[in-house]
Amino acid sequence: MQPEVRLSKSETSITAYIQHELCVSSTASADLIGNEWWISRVFVHAKYRRQHIGTLLVKTLQTHASNLVVTPGGYDMEPVHQYGFYRSLGFVPDSILPEGLRWTATK
Ligand SMILES: CC(C)(COP(=O)(O)OP(=O)(O)OC[C@H]1O[C@@H](n2cnc3c(N)ncnc32)[C@H](O)[C@@H]1OP(=O)(O)O)[C@@H](O)C(=O)NCCC(=O)NCCS
Repeated sequence: MQPEVRLSKSETSITAYIQHELCVSSTASADLIGNEWWISRVFVHAKYRRQHIGTLLVKTLQTHASNLVVTPGGYDMEPVHQYGFYRSLGFVPDSILPEGLRWTATK
């Protein structure tokens, strides 16, 4: 069964989150900068990774915020380890910023 995704949204920010257990959650957020929604955080609790929870959270953001943009990086992973995740969601680096700093969704 798919977990319940909850949503918190204002005019300039959106957060999708799943409460797995007491004090155990996964979350994805984006902020509106100009006319684009920049992903500021995607974090899936270590116990729940590789179960398509991150995919579900980002897809939920996408249904409420078009023009999602991301700079892969941060947390406990090197950007290179996040590339597979974003590629699987249809994100590719664009040419507006160099060195993979800006990835946009193609699907
Ligand atoms: C990156 C992260 C959000 C992925 O969440 P997840 O729920 O485990 O990802 P999914 O299960 O939805 O993965 C979807 C696809 O992405 C790719 N993928 C996910 N994690 C990957 C990894 N560590 N290495 C390579 N590819 C990966 C795979 O193709 C995967 O599909 P598959 O499992 O069927 O092969 C999670 O590992 C995490 O929270 N990491 C720490 C925080 C972080 O780095 N956030 C991103 C900041 S930009």
